[in-house]
Amino acid sequence: MSNGPELALPAVYNLADLRAQVRQWRADGLRIGFVPTMGALHDGHLALVKQALDTADRVIVSIFVNPTQFAPGEDFESYPRTLESDAQKLAEIGAHLVYSPDAGEMYPEGYVTTVTLTGPTHGLESISRPHFFNGVATVVCKLLNQVQPDLAVFGEKDYQQLMVIRRMVRDLNLPVEIAGGETVREPDGLALSSRNVYLNANERERAARLNVILHDFAEALSRGDNVADAQHQAQLKAQTAFDGVDYVVARDAENLEALPAGPIERDARVLAAVRVGKTRLIDNRAAPKT
Ligand code: PAJ
Repeated sequence: MSNGPELALPAVYNLADLRAQVRQWRADGLRIGFVPTMGALHDGHLALVKQALDTADRVIVSIFVNPTQFAPGEDFESYPRTLESDAQKLAEIGAHLVYSPDAGEMYPEGYVTTVTLTGPTHGLESISRPHFFNGVATVVCKLLNQVQPDLAVFGEKDYQQLMVIRRMVRDLNLPVEIAGGETVREPDGLALSSRNVYLNANERERAARLNVILHDFAEALSRGDNVADAQHQAQLKAQTAFDGVDYVVARDAENLEALPAGPIERDARVLAAVRVGKTRLIDNRAAPKT
């Protein structure tokens, strides 16, 4: 185990070392949990790790800022990289191994194979970030093949991403159980995100409106309001509160398809992406049919 700084818990930086460790745990009959991340860990990430620890004997956390899910001009270069403090937090809650792969090994010169989905990748995030889910699906598929965990945990915070991963795992017969973890929020309701560090004090205060708007939107749907009216109301509020609105919509909770007009007939999900200053925030909430 080599090629990196001294960390608060064991770490591997290449596939051979990862596989050697996983092989040993498998030989010991241990159940392996996995939480993929891009680092800059906060309590939302740590909640996923704790969830994995509940049912797995060993939990591996990957920290890899994946270049293929950033478009030119997005924040790949400036994305916070805090490996040592991340490792400290992971050690405190009892995670077992950090996997921080090298980009050159992840995407070797001349790689030509990627994973592309239709279905749940349509719309929402894909409109503003058309490259995004190909990058996510490809790296998550590779990570799952590399780690070969029994269980992998992803946050509901990135609800469309969770749907994309569930579908990819099903369609490609990847032998892993996927679990979703609830969104962890600040006391004022703002969903924790590694990008919240970009917000100044005024933006930080305004950012909390997003959860309130989604909360009210979800409640309106659950009590039987017309989808189109409730959506329009939520969009107007978001346009007033934020510097830009990519989307504020209600979708089918299972397949993210558009909903017919009228009251919801199945469980729905309300989802939004907005801009506060230069920062793009995404969030979502369940709108169960009651
Ligand atoms: P990242 O943004 O680091 O998030 C890693 C995991 O933490 C994701 O499953 C995300 O949904 C979850 N997460 C983020 N904020 C959360 C919150 N407030 N509460 C609960 N869970 C939260 O998502 C990615 O990285 C990448 O796309 C990745 C899947 C690692 C592929 O590169």
